[in-house]
Amino acid sequence: MPNVLRRLRRTPALRELVRETVVRPSDLIYPIFVGEGLSDRQPIESMPGQFRHPVAGLPLLVKHLHEVGVKSVLLFGIPSSKNERASGATTKNGVVQQAIKAMKDAEPSLVVMTDVCICAYTPSGHCGVLRGNEIDNDSTLPLLSAMAVSHAEAGADLVAPSSMMDSQVAAIRCALMQSGMDETAIMGYSAKFASGFYGPFREAADSAPSFGDRASYQHDPANGRHARREILQDVEEGADILMVKPGLSYLDILREARELSDLPLAVYSVSGEYSMIKAAANCGWLDEKRIVLETLTAFKRAGADLIISYFAPEAALWLNES
Ligand code: PBG
Repeated sequence: MPNVLRRLRRTPALRELVRETVVRPSDLIYPIFVGEGLSDRQPIESMPGQFRHPVAGLPLLVKHLHEVGVKSVLLFGIPSSKNERASGATTKNGVVQQAIKAMKDAEPSLVVMTDVCICAYTPSGHCGVLRGNEIDNDSTLPLLSAMAVSHAEAGADLVAPSSMMDSQVAAIRCALMQSGMDETAIMGYSAKFASGFYGPFREAADSAPSFGDRASYQHDPANGRHARREILQDVEEGADILMVKPGLSYLDILREARELSDLPLAVYSVSGEYSMIKAAANCGWLDEKRIVLETLTAFKRAGADLIISYFAPEAALWLNES
């Protein structure tokens, strides 16, 4: 007798009863760009609906996120000036440090995560310190550590090193402990691929490399086994949460990460994924709400617990409707 699969698909209530994957607004993490010295929010051209925010605009944004049920944010800073030492990244009064305080003051329950990488803070736009035209992995680690400690001291709940230097999680964990900030969690960008999908972000954060590319420190998109090694290494180095990035093109890696470790797992659905959907939706070629909810569901089905998405506030509204 062949199985009859349609019986449980017959009505909305039956389908809901047997639904395996549910996305909640509280699963979502909203990435926010904060620009130093801005008086108004600036639209990001390649990401319609996204903005570079002034610190003073954050309380209102936080209020909105709270209302729709998004409880976590990931902050990216855009300093007003750059230098080789990336001093804007580590200074007590840096743009991210100010933003953390403004957001925590506005809503103490908000989970504030911060990006730890120097690409937006140096003229080269690379994620590590340069020696000639090469990235100097090991001399980047103290800078990342100082940045992480400074974010933790400003009140960040979690730091997320995206620079992709080897041993960055171990170095940051050690620095946090030494500074007495052992309650601050680390989300490892465990499997971050050298992806064309980061294009719009680099416009948003003004962080495109001035020469070359990031292929020497981000993963080759062709390599799944390599990503697995990196994931295991982040677990060993003391990451509290793992992450796979980008999302849509790397669902196989996400599934593998889920099976490799019991740590909470995040996926970062990156700028290019947002822009693709927005562009097609703005042309009337795709049903935006349907596509966004379908992709978020796919991330969870593949194994993600948390989803970093520029659609977070909109998606939360849609999720609350249903
Ligand atoms: C910084 C960083 C990038 C992203 C997150 N952190 C850009 C890059 O690596 O070039 C990309 C996020 C996105 O595209 O939404 N190192």
